[in-house]
Amino acid sequence: MKHFLTAVVFGAAVVTLVSAAGTDGAISFEYHRYEELRKALVSVWLQCPTITRIYTIGESFEGRELLVLEMSDNPGTHEPGEPEFKYIANMHGNEAVGRELLIYLAQYLCNQYQQGNETIIDLIHNTRIHLMPSMNPDGFEKAASQPGEIKDWFVGRSNAQGVDLNRNFPDLDRIIYINEREGGANNHLLQNMKKAVDENTKLAPETKAVIHWIMDIPFVLSANLHGGDVVANYPYDETRTGSTHEYSASPDDVMFKSLARAYSMYNPVMSDPHRAPCRKNDDDSSFKDGITNGGAWYSVPGGMQDFNYLSSNCFEITLELSCDKFPNEETLKGYWEQNRNSLVNYIEQVHRGVKGFVRDLQGNPVSNATVSVEGIDHDITTAKDGDYWRLLAPGNYKVAASAPGYLTVIKKVAVPYSPATRVDFELESLMERKEEEREELMDWWKMMSETLNF
Ligand SMILES: *[C@@H]1O[C@H](CO)[C@@H](O)[C@H](O)[C@H]1NC(C)=O
Ligand SMILES: *[C@@H]1O[C@H](CO)[C@@H](O)[C@H](O)[C@H]1NC(C)=O
Ligand SMILES: [Zn+2]
Repeated sequence: MKHFLTAVVFGAAVVTLVSAAGTDGAISFEYHRYEELRKALVSVWLQCPTITRIYTIGESFEGRELLVLEMSDNPGTHEPGEPEFKYIANMHGNEAVGRELLIYLAQYLCNQYQQGNETIIDLIHNTRIHLMPSMNPDGFEKAASQPGEIKDWFVGRSNAQGVDLNRNFPDLDRIIYINEREGGANNHLLQNMKKAVDENTKLAPETKAVIHWIMDIPFVLSANLHGGDVVANYPYDETRTGSTHEYSASPDDVMFKSLARAYSMYNPVMSDPHRAPCRKNDDDSSFKDGITNGGAWYSVPGGMQDFNYLSSNCFEITLELSCDKFPNEETLKGYWEQNRNSLVNYIEQVHRGVKGFVRDLQGNPVSNATVSVEGIDHDITTAKDGDYWRLLAPGNYKVAASAPGYLTVIKKVAVPYSPATRVDFELESLMERKEEEREELMDWWKMMSETLNF
Protein backbone atom coordinates (compact mmCIF):
# COMPACT_ATOMS: atom_id res chain seq x y z
CA MET A 1 0.00 0.00 0.00
CA LYS A 2 2.72 2.37 1.03
CA HIS A 3 4.65 1.44 -2.04
CA PHE A 4 1.60 2.01 -4.22
CA LEU A 5 1.03 5.48 -2.75
CA THR A 6 4.62 6.46 -3.47
CA ALA A 7 4.15 5.38 -7.04
CA VAL A 8 1.02 7.50 -7.39
CA VAL A 9 2.72 10.53 -5.90
CA PHE A 10 5.72 10.01 -8.10
CA GLY A 11 3.43 9.61 -11.13
CA ALA A 12 1.62 12.82 -10.32
CA ALA A 13 4.89 14.68 -9.95
CA VAL A 14 6.02 13.51 -13.36
CA VAL A 15 2.76 14.62 -14.94
CA THR A 16 3.08 18.08 -13.38
CA LEU A 17 6.60 18.39 -14.61
CA VAL A 18 5.70 17.46 -18.16
CA SER A 19 2.74 19.83 -18.36
CA ALA A 20 4.78 22.69 -16.92
CA ALA A 21 7.41 22.05 -19.55
CA GLY A 22 4.68 22.23 -22.19
CA THR A 23 3.67 25.79 -21.42
CA ASP A 24 5.57 28.96 -22.20
CA GLY A 25 6.18 29.13 -18.45
CA ALA A 26 8.98 26.59 -18.82
CA ILE A 27 10.95 28.96 -21.04
CA SER A 28 13.24 31.23 -19.10
CA PHE A 29 13.04 34.65 -20.70
CA GLU A 30 16.58 35.94 -20.34
CA TYR A 31 19.48 36.95 -22.54
CA HIS A 32 21.94 34.21 -23.49
CA ARG A 33 25.61 35.08 -23.89
CA TYR A 34 27.67 32.87 -26.21
CA GLU A 35 28.26 30.03 -23.73
CA GLU A 36 24.66 30.19 -22.50
CA LEU A 37 23.35 30.09 -26.06
CA ARG A 38 25.31 26.93 -26.69
CA LYS A 39 24.02 25.39 -23.46
CA ALA A 40 20.43 26.32 -24.29
CA LEU A 41 20.68 24.60 -27.68
CA VAL A 42 22.31 21.53 -26.13
CA SER A 43 19.53 21.25 -23.56
CA VAL A 44 16.90 21.30 -26.35
CA TRP A 45 18.86 18.57 -28.07
CA LEU A 46 19.03 16.52 -24.85
CA GLN A 47 15.30 16.97 -24.30
CA CYS A 48 14.31 16.13 -27.92
CA PRO A 49 17.20 14.03 -29.28
CA THR A 50 15.18 12.20 -31.95
CA ILE A 51 14.04 15.39 -33.72
CA THR A 52 17.01 17.71 -33.28
CA ARG A 53 20.64 18.08 -34.27
CA ILE A 54 23.19 20.81 -33.59
CA TYR A 55 25.69 21.71 -36.26
CA THR A 56 27.93 24.61 -37.15
CA ILE A 57 28.37 26.24 -40.56
CA GLY A 58 31.72 27.85 -39.72
CA GLU A 59 33.31 30.36 -37.40
CA SER A 60 33.11 34.08 -36.80
CA PHE A 61 36.20 36.27 -37.20
CA GLU A 62 37.06 35.80 -33.51
CA GLY A 63 36.50 32.05 -33.73
CA ARG A 64 33.02 31.65 -32.26
CA GLU A 65 30.90 28.96 -33.88
CA LEU A 66 27.95 29.84 -36.10
CA LEU A 67 25.60 27.35 -34.47
CA VAL A 68 22.45 25.94 -36.00
CA LEU A 69 19.76 23.83 -34.36
CA GLU A 70 17.98 21.63 -36.87
CA MET A 71 14.50 20.22 -36.20
CA SER A 72 13.16 17.41 -38.35
CA ASP A 73 11.87 13.86 -37.97
CA ASN A 74 15.11 12.79 -39.70
CA PRO A 75 17.74 15.25 -38.50
CA GLY A 76 20.87 15.45 -40.63
CA THR A 77 19.37 14.46 -43.98
CA HIS A 78 17.44 16.05 -46.78
CA GLU A 79 14.34 13.91 -47.27
CA PRO A 80 13.25 13.83 -50.92
CA GLY A 81 10.11 15.94 -51.32
CA GLU A 82 10.37 17.63 -47.92
CA PRO A 83 10.97 21.41 -48.02
CA GLU A 84 13.73 23.10 -45.99
CA PHE A 85 13.24 26.27 -43.97
CA LYS A 86 15.59 28.58 -42.06
CA TYR A 87 15.53 31.44 -39.58
CA ILE A 88 18.67 33.55 -39.10
CA ALA A 89 18.93 36.13 -36.32
CA ASN A 90 21.38 38.57 -34.77
CA MET A 91 23.24 39.34 -38.02
CA HIS A 92 23.59 42.79 -36.54
CA GLY A 93 25.14 41.77 -33.24
CA ASN A 94 23.36 44.50 -31.25
CA GLU A 95 19.89 43.48 -32.50
CA ALA A 96 19.23 40.98 -29.78
CA VAL A 97 15.51 40.16 -29.69
CA GLY A 98 15.54 37.77 -32.67
CA ARG A 99 18.44 35.82 -31.15
CA GLU A 100 16.42 35.16 -28.01
CA LEU A 101 13.20 34.44 -29.91
CA LEU A 102 14.89 31.65 -31.87
CA ILE A 103 16.11 30.04 -28.63
CA TYR A 104 12.59 30.24 -27.18
CA LEU A 105 11.14 28.93 -30.45
CA ALA A 106 13.42 25.88 -30.30
CA GLN A 107 12.33 25.22 -26.71
CA TYR A 108 8.66 25.76 -27.59
CA LEU A 109 8.71 23.43 -30.60
CA CYS A 110 10.45 20.71 -28.59
CA ASN A 111 8.00 21.08 -25.66
CA GLN A 112 4.93 21.10 -27.89
CA TYR A 113 6.18 18.12 -29.88
CA GLN A 114 6.62 16.12 -26.68
CA GLN A 115 3.18 17.21 -25.50
CA GLY A 116 1.58 15.81 -28.62
CA ASN A 117 0.54 19.11 -30.23
CA GLU A 118 -0.68 17.92 -33.68
CA THR A 119 0.12 21.21 -35.42
CA ILE A 120 3.73 21.11 -34.28
CA ILE A 121 4.13 17.37 -34.88
CA ASP A 122 2.87 17.78 -38.48
CA LEU A 123 5.18 20.72 -39.01
CA ILE A 124 8.27 18.89 -37.78
CA HIS A 125 7.39 15.68 -39.66
CA ASN A 126 6.92 17.53 -42.95
CA THR A 127 9.56 20.24 -42.81
CA ARG A 128 13.30 20.40 -42.19
CA ILE A 129 13.72 23.50 -40.01
CA HIS A 130 17.08 25.21 -39.38
CA LEU A 131 17.43 27.84 -36.64
CA MET A 132 20.54 30.04 -36.43
CA PRO A 133 20.15 32.29 -33.36
CA SER A 134 23.30 34.30 -34.10
CA MET A 135 25.07 35.06 -37.36
CA ASN A 136 27.25 37.62 -35.58
CA PRO A 137 28.24 36.20 -32.18
CA ASP A 138 31.26 38.55 -31.92
CA GLY A 139 29.11 41.63 -32.35
CA PHE A 140 26.62 40.36 -29.77
CA GLU A 141 29.33 39.81 -27.15
CA LYS A 142 30.55 43.35 -27.74
CA ALA A 143 27.05 44.83 -27.46
CA ALA A 144 26.14 42.73 -24.41
CA SER A 145 29.31 43.57 -22.49
CA GLN A 146 28.46 47.28 -22.35
CA PRO A 147 27.65 48.15 -18.74
CA GLY A 148 24.12 49.19 -17.77
CA GLU A 149 20.75 48.61 -19.35
CA ILE A 150 20.89 51.26 -22.09
CA LYS A 151 22.95 50.02 -25.03
CA ASP A 152 24.53 52.20 -27.69
CA TRP A 153 22.61 52.23 -31.01
CA PHE A 154 25.63 51.04 -33.04
CA VAL A 155 28.09 49.19 -30.77
CA GLY A 156 28.21 45.54 -31.86
CA ARG A 157 26.28 46.04 -35.12
CA SER A 158 29.23 45.00 -37.33
CA ASN A 159 31.38 41.90 -37.06
CA ALA A 160 34.75 42.03 -35.31
CA GLN A 161 36.40 43.38 -38.49
CA GLY A 162 33.97 46.28 -38.59
CA VAL A 163 32.04 44.80 -41.53
CA ASP A 164 28.26 45.35 -41.68
CA LEU A 165 27.24 41.82 -42.67
CA ASN A 166 23.96 42.99 -44.23
CA ARG A 167 25.90 45.11 -46.75
CA ASN A 168 28.57 42.48 -47.38
CA PHE A 169 26.85 40.00 -49.74
CA PRO A 170 27.64 40.03 -53.48
CA ASP A 171 25.38 42.71 -54.97
CA LEU A 172 23.33 40.52 -57.30
CA ASP A 173 20.58 43.15 -57.65
CA ARG A 174 22.87 45.16 -59.95
CA ILE A 175 23.31 42.08 -62.15
CA ILE A 176 19.62 41.19 -62.27
CA TYR A 177 18.69 44.77 -63.18
CA ILE A 178 21.08 44.60 -66.16
CA ASN A 179 19.78 41.14 -67.12
CA GLU A 180 16.19 42.44 -66.98
CA ARG A 181 17.04 45.04 -69.62
CA GLU A 182 19.53 43.16 -71.76
CA GLY A 183 18.61 39.51 -71.27
CA GLY A 184 20.43 36.91 -69.21
CA ALA A 185 19.82 34.57 -66.31
CA ASN A 186 16.87 35.39 -64.05
CA ASN A 187 18.18 33.43 -61.03
CA HIS A 188 21.17 31.46 -59.68
CA LEU A 189 23.43 34.37 -60.59
CA LEU A 190 26.44 32.92 -58.76
CA GLN A 191 26.19 29.54 -60.53
CA ASN A 192 29.64 27.95 -61.04
CA MET A 193 31.27 30.81 -59.08
CA LYS A 194 31.88 29.23 -55.68
CA LYS A 195 35.63 29.51 -56.15
CA ALA A 196 35.34 33.26 -56.76
CA VAL A 197 33.39 33.53 -53.48
CA ASP A 198 36.10 31.67 -51.57
CA GLU A 199 38.84 33.85 -53.02
CA ASN A 200 37.04 37.15 -52.45
CA THR A 201 38.89 38.93 -49.64
CA LYS A 202 36.12 41.50 -49.14
CA LEU A 203 33.73 38.88 -47.78
CA ALA A 204 33.71 38.44 -43.99
CA PRO A 205 34.04 34.84 -42.70
CA GLU A 206 30.44 34.98 -41.43
CA THR A 207 29.22 36.05 -44.89
CA LYS A 208 31.20 33.33 -46.67
CA ALA A 209 29.88 30.63 -44.35
CA VAL A 210 26.29 31.75 -44.91
CA ILE A 211 26.75 31.98 -48.71
CA HIS A 212 27.89 28.34 -48.76
CA TRP A 213 25.00 27.36 -46.52
CA ILE A 214 22.46 29.10 -48.79
CA MET A 215 23.89 27.51 -51.91
CA ASP A 216 24.43 23.99 -50.53
CA ILE A 217 21.05 23.27 -48.91
CA PRO A 218 17.86 23.39 -51.00
CA PHE A 219 16.16 26.01 -48.81
CA VAL A 220 12.71 27.11 -49.93
CA LEU A 221 11.85 29.82 -47.42
CA SER A 222 13.67 31.91 -44.85
CA ALA A 223 13.51 34.99 -42.66
CA ASN A 224 16.26 37.23 -41.30
CA LEU A 225 15.45 38.65 -37.84
CA HIS A 226 16.51 42.22 -37.06
CA GLY A 227 15.55 45.00 -34.65
CA GLY A 228 15.26 48.78 -34.55
CA ASP A 229 11.78 48.95 -36.08
CA VAL A 230 8.63 46.83 -36.34
CA VAL A 231 7.75 45.64 -39.85
CA ALA A 232 8.04 42.69 -42.26
CA ASN A 233 10.22 43.77 -45.21
CA TYR A 234 10.25 41.98 -48.60
CA PRO A 235 12.37 42.12 -51.82
CA TYR A 236 13.82 43.89 -53.53
CA ASP A 237 15.85 45.79 -50.95
CA GLU A 238 17.98 47.64 -53.50
CA THR A 239 16.31 50.13 -55.84
CA ARG A 240 16.61 49.87 -59.64
CA THR A 241 17.71 53.47 -60.16
CA GLY A 242 19.93 53.76 -57.09
CA SER A 243 17.56 56.30 -55.51
CA THR A 244 17.07 56.11 -51.75
CA HIS A 245 13.33 55.33 -51.73
CA GLU A 246 11.59 53.59 -54.60
CA TYR A 247 9.19 50.64 -54.74
CA SER A 248 11.33 47.82 -56.16
CA ALA A 249 9.10 44.91 -57.10
CA SER A 250 10.63 41.48 -57.68
CA PRO A 251 8.99 39.08 -60.16
CA ASP A 252 7.39 37.38 -57.12
CA ASP A 253 5.99 40.58 -55.62
CA VAL A 254 2.50 39.11 -55.09
CA MET A 255 3.83 36.08 -53.22
CA PHE A 256 6.32 38.10 -51.18
CA LYS A 257 3.54 40.41 -49.98
CA SER A 258 1.51 37.38 -49.00
CA LEU A 259 4.47 35.90 -47.10
CA ALA A 260 5.22 39.14 -45.26
CA ARG A 261 1.52 39.42 -44.35
CA ALA A 262 1.57 35.84 -43.06
CA TYR A 263 4.07 37.07 -40.48
CA SER A 264 2.71 40.53 -39.64
CA MET A 265 -0.93 39.49 -39.39
CA TYR A 266 -0.29 37.25 -36.35
CA ASN A 267 1.74 39.94 -34.57
CA PRO A 268 -0.71 42.37 -32.93
CA VAL A 269 1.86 45.17 -32.67
CA MET A 270 3.28 44.85 -36.19
CA SER A 271 -0.15 44.75 -37.85
CA ASP A 272 -1.68 47.53 -35.72
CA PRO A 273 -2.62 50.29 -38.22
CA HIS A 274 -2.48 52.89 -35.42
CA ARG A 275 0.99 51.96 -34.15
CA ALA A 276 3.04 55.13 -33.71
CA PRO A 277 6.45 55.16 -35.46
CA CYS A 278 9.30 53.91 -33.28
CA ARG A 279 10.82 57.41 -33.18
CA LYS A 280 9.05 60.69 -33.82
CA ASN A 281 10.91 61.50 -37.04
CA ASP A 282 10.83 58.01 -38.58
CA ASP A 283 9.41 57.83 -42.08
CA ASP A 284 7.05 54.85 -42.02
CA SER A 285 5.01 56.04 -45.01
CA SER A 286 5.84 52.85 -46.96
CA PHE A 287 4.44 50.60 -44.19
CA LYS A 288 1.01 49.08 -44.78
CA ASP A 289 -0.55 46.21 -42.77
CA GLY A 290 2.80 45.81 -41.02
CA ILE A 291 4.72 45.11 -44.24
CA THR A 292 6.91 47.12 -46.59
CA ASN A 293 8.84 46.70 -49.79
CA GLY A 294 12.53 47.05 -48.99
CA GLY A 295 13.39 49.63 -51.64
CA ALA A 296 10.30 51.70 -50.84
CA TRP A 297 11.52 51.99 -47.23
CA TYR A 298 15.22 52.59 -47.97
CA SER A 299 17.65 51.07 -50.44
CA VAL A 300 20.05 48.39 -49.15
CA PRO A 301 22.81 47.17 -51.50
CA GLY A 302 24.61 43.93 -50.64
CA GLY A 303 21.93 42.59 -48.29
CA MET A 304 21.30 38.94 -47.49
CA GLN A 305 17.57 38.93 -48.38
CA ASP A 306 17.95 39.68 -52.09
CA PHE A 307 21.04 37.47 -52.22
CA ASN A 308 18.95 34.46 -51.17
CA TYR A 309 16.38 35.13 -53.88
CA LEU A 310 18.91 35.75 -56.67
CA SER A 311 21.48 33.05 -55.89
CA SER A 312 19.25 30.15 -54.84
CA ASN A 313 15.67 28.87 -54.79
CA CYS A 314 15.14 30.41 -51.35
CA PHE A 315 12.66 33.22 -50.73
CA GLU A 316 13.69 35.39 -47.78
CA ILE A 317 12.06 38.31 -45.99
CA THR A 318 13.55 40.56 -43.29
CA LEU A 319 11.72 40.97 -39.98
CA GLU A 320 12.17 44.02 -37.78
CA LEU A 321 10.88 42.94 -34.39
CA SER A 322 11.39 45.72 -31.85
CA CYS A 323 11.89 49.48 -31.70
CA ASP A 324 14.72 48.96 -29.24
CA LYS A 325 17.61 46.94 -30.60
CA PHE A 326 18.70 45.64 -27.21
CA PRO A 327 15.72 46.11 -24.87
CA ASN A 328 15.61 45.30 -21.15
CA GLU A 329 15.50 41.64 -20.25
CA GLU A 330 12.06 42.08 -18.61
CA THR A 331 10.51 42.83 -22.00
CA LEU A 332 11.63 39.57 -23.65
CA LYS A 333 8.58 37.58 -22.54
CA GLY A 334 6.32 40.19 -24.14
CA TYR A 335 8.24 39.98 -27.43
CA TRP A 336 7.86 36.20 -27.39
CA GLU A 337 4.10 36.51 -26.89
CA GLN A 338 3.83 39.04 -29.73
CA ASN A 339 5.82 36.87 -32.12
CA ARG A 340 5.13 33.24 -31.22
CA ASN A 341 2.19 32.64 -33.55
CA SER A 342 3.86 34.61 -36.34
CA LEU A 343 7.04 32.55 -36.06
CA VAL A 344 5.11 29.26 -36.35
CA ASN A 345 2.71 30.49 -39.03
CA TYR A 346 5.55 31.79 -41.18
CA ILE A 347 7.28 28.38 -41.18
CA GLU A 348 3.99 26.88 -42.43
CA GLN A 349 4.15 29.11 -45.53
CA VAL A 350 6.82 26.75 -46.91
CA HIS A 351 3.93 24.39 -47.75
CA ARG A 352 2.35 26.64 -50.39
CA GLY A 353 2.45 26.84 -54.20
CA VAL A 354 3.45 23.89 -56.36
CA LYS A 355 5.80 21.06 -55.47
CA GLY A 356 6.75 17.67 -56.83
CA PHE A 357 9.40 15.74 -58.71
CA VAL A 358 10.97 15.95 -62.16
CA ARG A 359 12.00 12.52 -63.51
CA ASP A 360 12.89 10.92 -66.81
CA LEU A 361 10.70 8.24 -68.43
CA GLN A 362 12.55 5.51 -66.53
CA GLY A 363 11.75 7.24 -63.24
CA ASN A 364 15.27 8.53 -62.57
CA PRO A 365 15.46 11.94 -60.91
CA VAL A 366 16.42 14.90 -63.10
CA SER A 367 18.36 17.23 -60.83
CA ASN A 368 19.10 20.86 -61.71
CA ALA A 369 16.10 20.92 -64.07
CA THR A 370 14.49 24.33 -64.53
CA VAL A 371 10.95 24.91 -63.27
CA SER A 372 9.47 28.09 -64.72
CA VAL A 373 6.11 29.78 -64.39
CA GLU A 374 4.59 31.72 -67.28
CA GLY A 375 4.46 35.42 -66.44
CA ILE A 376 6.98 35.23 -63.57
CA ASP A 377 10.54 35.88 -64.70
CA HIS A 378 12.25 33.92 -61.93
CA ASP A 379 13.06 30.25 -62.44
CA ILE A 380 13.81 27.74 -59.76
CA THR A 381 15.63 24.43 -60.11
CA THR A 382 15.18 20.88 -58.90
CA ALA A 383 17.28 19.51 -56.04
CA LYS A 384 19.37 16.33 -56.09
CA ASP A 385 16.40 13.95 -56.04
CA GLY A 386 14.55 15.86 -58.75
CA ASP A 387 12.35 17.44 -56.07
CA TYR A 388 11.26 21.06 -56.31
CA TRP A 389 9.10 23.62 -54.47
CA ARG A 390 7.73 26.66 -56.27
CA LEU A 391 6.08 29.13 -53.86
CA LEU A 392 3.06 30.77 -55.53
CA ALA A 393 0.09 32.89 -54.50
CA PRO A 394 -3.38 31.48 -55.27
CA GLY A 395 -4.25 31.47 -58.99
CA ASN A 396 -4.05 29.53 -62.26
CA TYR A 397 -0.60 29.00 -63.69
CA LYS A 398 1.27 27.33 -66.54
CA VAL A 399 4.30 25.59 -65.08
CA ALA A 400 7.09 24.21 -67.29
CA ALA A 401 9.87 21.77 -66.47
CA SER A 402 12.90 21.66 -68.75
CA ALA A 403 16.46 20.37 -68.78
CA PRO A 404 19.20 20.24 -71.41
CA GLY A 405 18.70 17.12 -73.57
CA TYR A 406 15.00 16.70 -72.68
CA LEU A 407 11.71 17.76 -74.21
CA THR A 408 10.03 20.49 -72.14
CA VAL A 409 6.73 19.60 -70.44
CA ILE A 410 4.15 22.28 -69.61
CA LYS A 411 1.24 21.75 -67.21
CA LYS A 412 -1.70 23.89 -66.15
CA VAL A 413 -2.06 24.12 -62.38
CA ALA A 414 -4.67 25.64 -60.07
CA VAL A 415 -3.04 26.79 -56.83
CA PRO A 416 -5.10 27.36 -53.65
CA TYR A 417 -3.79 29.37 -50.67
CA SER A 418 -2.48 26.14 -49.17
CA PRO A 419 -1.42 23.34 -49.09
CA ALA A 420 0.95 23.09 -52.05
CA THR A 421 -0.40 21.38 -55.16
CA ARG A 422 1.55 18.28 -56.13
CA VAL A 423 2.68 18.33 -59.79
CA ASP A 424 5.18 15.79 -61.10
CA PHE A 425 6.85 15.96 -64.50
CA GLU A 426 8.12 13.11 -66.70
CA LEU A 427 10.64 14.35 -69.22
CA GLU A 428 11.45 12.44 -72.39
CA SER A 429 15.09 12.64 -73.37
CA LEU A 430 15.86 13.85 -76.89
CA MET A 431 18.15 10.85 -77.39
CA GLU A 432 15.21 8.54 -76.73
CA ARG A 433 13.08 10.58 -79.06
CA LYS A 434 15.66 10.29 -81.85
CA GLU A 435 15.97 6.57 -81.26
CA GLU A 436 12.18 6.20 -81.48
CA GLU A 437 12.07 8.17 -84.70
CA ARG A 438 14.84 6.06 -86.17
CA GLU A 439 12.98 2.87 -85.30
CA GLU A 440 9.76 4.23 -86.78
CA LEU A 441 11.58 5.09 -89.99
CA MET A 442 13.11 1.59 -90.13
CA ASP A 443 9.70 0.01 -89.64
CA TRP A 444 8.23 2.17 -92.35
CA TRP A 445 11.11 1.28 -94.68
CA LYS A 446 10.68 -2.43 -93.98
CA MET A 447 6.96 -2.21 -94.61
CA MET A 448 7.47 -0.31 -97.87
CA SER A 449 10.07 -2.73 -99.11
CA GLU A 450 7.85 -5.70 -98.34
CA THR A 451 4.86 -4.09 -100.07
CA LEU A 452 6.87 -3.17 -103.13
CA ASN A 453 8.58 -6.54 -103.08
CA PHE A 454 12.15 -5.27 -103.43
C1 LIG B 1 -0.31 23.84 -30.68
O1 LIG B 1 0.55 24.69 -31.41
C2 LIG B 1 -0.09 25.74 -32.08
C3 LIG B 1 0.95 26.47 -32.91
O2 LIG B 1 1.92 27.06 -32.12
C4 LIG B 1 -0.78 26.65 -31.08
O3 LIG B 1 -1.47 27.68 -31.74
C5 LIG B 1 -1.74 25.84 -30.22
O4 LIG B 1 -2.26 26.66 -29.20
C6 LIG B 1 -1.03 24.65 -29.61
N1 LIG B 1 -2.01 23.80 -28.93
C7 LIG B 1 -1.97 23.60 -27.62
C8 LIG B 1 -3.02 22.67 -27.09
O5 LIG B 1 -1.15 24.11 -26.90
C1 LIG C 1 22.89 23.46 -63.59
O1 LIG C 1 22.55 23.83 -64.90
C2 LIG C 1 23.17 25.02 -65.35
C3 LIG C 1 22.61 25.41 -66.69
O2 LIG C 1 21.69 24.50 -67.22
C4 LIG C 1 24.68 24.82 -65.38
O3 LIG C 1 25.32 26.03 -65.78
C5 LIG C 1 25.16 24.44 -63.99
O4 LIG C 1 26.52 24.15 -64.02
C6 LIG C 1 24.39 23.25 -63.48
N1 LIG C 1 24.75 23.03 -62.10
C7 LIG C 1 25.12 21.85 -61.65
C8 LIG C 1 25.46 21.76 -60.21
O5 LIG C 1 25.18 20.86 -62.37
ZN1 LIG D 1 19.61 45.05 -38.54
